[in-house]
Amino acid sequence: MGAFKEPHGDVLKQLYLTESAAEQEKLRARDYRSWDLRPRQLCDIELILNGAFSPLEGFLTEAEYKRVVLDMRLPSGMLWPIPVTLDVSVEFARDTSKGEHIALRDPEGVLIATMEVSDIWEPDKAAESSGVYGTQDEHHPGVYYLMHRAAKMYLGGKLRGVEPATWYDFKLLRDSPAELRGRFRKLGWRKVVAFQTRNPMHRAHHEMSLRAAREAEANLLIHPVIGMTRPGDVDHYTRVRCYEHMLKHYPEQTTALSLLNLAMRMAGPREALWHAIIRKNYGCTHFIVGRDHAGPGNASDGKHFYEPYAAQELLKEYEQEIDVTMVPFKEMVYVQDKAQFVPVDEVLPGMQALTISGTELRRRLREGLEIPEWFSYPEIIEELRKTHPPRHKQGFTVFFTGLSGSGKSTIANALFAKLLELGERRVTLLDGDLVRKHLSSELGFSREHRDINILRIGYVASEITRHGGVAICAPIAPYTATRRRVREMIEEFGAFIEIYVATPLEVCEQRDRKGLYAKARAGIIKEFTGISDPYEEPQSPEMVIDTRALTPDLAAHRILVKLESLGYIR
Ligand code: PPS
Repeated sequence: MGAFKEPHGDVLKQLYLTESAAEQEKLRARDYRSWDLRPRQLCDIELILNGAFSPLEGFLTEAEYKRVVLDMRLPSGMLWPIPVTLDVSVEFARDTSKGEHIALRDPEGVLIATMEVSDIWEPDKAAESSGVYGTQDEHHPGVYYLMHRAAKMYLGGKLRGVEPATWYDFKLLRDSPAELRGRFRKLGWRKVVAFQTRNPMHRAHHEMSLRAAREAEANLLIHPVIGMTRPGDVDHYTRVRCYEHMLKHYPEQTTALSLLNLAMRMAGPREALWHAIIRKNYGCTHFIVGRDHAGPGNASDGKHFYEPYAAQELLKEYEQEIDVTMVPFKEMVYVQDKAQFVPVDEVLPGMQALTISGTELRRRLREGLEIPEWFSYPEIIEELRKTHPPRHKQGFTVFFTGLSGSGKSTIANALFAKLLELGERRVTLLDGDLVRKHLSSELGFSREHRDINILRIGYVASEITRHGGVAICAPIAPYTATRRRVREMIEEFGAFIEIYVATPLEVCEQRDRKGLYAKARAGIIKEFTGISDPYEEPQSPEMVIDTRALTPDLAAHRILVKLESLGYIR
């Protein structure tokens, strides 16, 4: 059938054992120690085993990792810009020895693969962060993940695939590189332009991708990432329904849709290069790169982490080496006088160019406002409206934090009653004491136990928020990192409004309603927050309340006003 593009490194790795070999491996693995793969590792392992990450044959070894971080290459010299590593707990690493085989399982315990451990090391995460992301700023989601979510130790080694993880959604749209290559071959598609996205597609994307395919005289693959994307993105179920609608708007037989279970790192230019390599492994010849490709949002100083066109520049530099043609994406705007989309640099003086940013679209969805036909297709907007009701119908969490005796519970109770009085919302109060009685009765006050307690609260609140309810939480929650994790859990589904009840320690101690401060001073209660245990003040809460200046009633009222101004209550 002629020369289809070879994968990166010329061989498409297919690391799944044959059925009978897999059966034997399963028997052997009964004696192996098991590591339960985390969500990101589950994505990574799938793409290693099915060859999307060719030439990788396992999680990176220490030598591979160091070279990749340093200069984007494997020791063989091949380009590989992103470290794909297996992070494990210190305990697990301590009990593992080089040469040992371990079992890698999904959260249900299904054996996905075994790994012969060749390397065990503690990575220099600061160096990894600077090398891969070009920053150590934890506003970068990739850096934050590395520092706070990824475990401390890395294991490297080759994998033997036993069974792909099972996914129950959109099964027909999930393809391995071999499957997609097979499809292209069958259809006779020699040149394929891949379009990567983590967002819903609208008319501008449609226009731009069509143009890109036409210019390259190629077919088009819409290849959205559904593994892990930027926190806060539209969930993949909604997005895929949108892509399915969008597919119908392309000329028949020209365009395919396939889903990529990739865990993005939001590493900007390095990630763009990685994306292109992955698409090459799927049989694509061209790759569209837009403005701020795989961008991580803004840094703590409000600036971009990467220049908007840095990804295009980097890819241009390596285009020949990886043998994938970069198709630079020009921003498209709608010109009313012409009733069509044109690249922004082709807008003539005097023409009125229209565009709706992602932020503006979210605002209109949130507020139930009109979204014009020129911007998107009605069936796509309808999908988005289903999962993005206006704010007064969305769930949210009000999270009080502050010292014991600061007044959190009293204000939380007042807010609870006022919201119920309004009668439009279903409200759950997760007060510190209530939670400790019903959810966390076995826990004490060590850092570990406090974290477990707060994460339980976060989990319950996120479920309430997800289903459109209101959760009011009022624990001490003394640690910044834990509060941030809770924020992330909630913000996936709705707003997180952190309220710091900033009553000073002296005042709390003076009030000492429960007599606990006296006991803490006397050393009868150990690890008491503010006395013998830390409280890390919130740096940027949505609201600060000083109970010296405000009664609980007034404080609750102020919060209501704030909720109203944000649109969460009417
Ligand atoms: S945490 O840190 O968020 O898990 O704490 P929380 O679940 O909110 O529980 C705090 C309540 O438990 C009482 N208590 C203590 N607090 C702090 N430190 C120690 N060692 C401690 N031992 C008991 C205290 O009454 C807190 O209640 P509030 O409502 O905050 O006054």
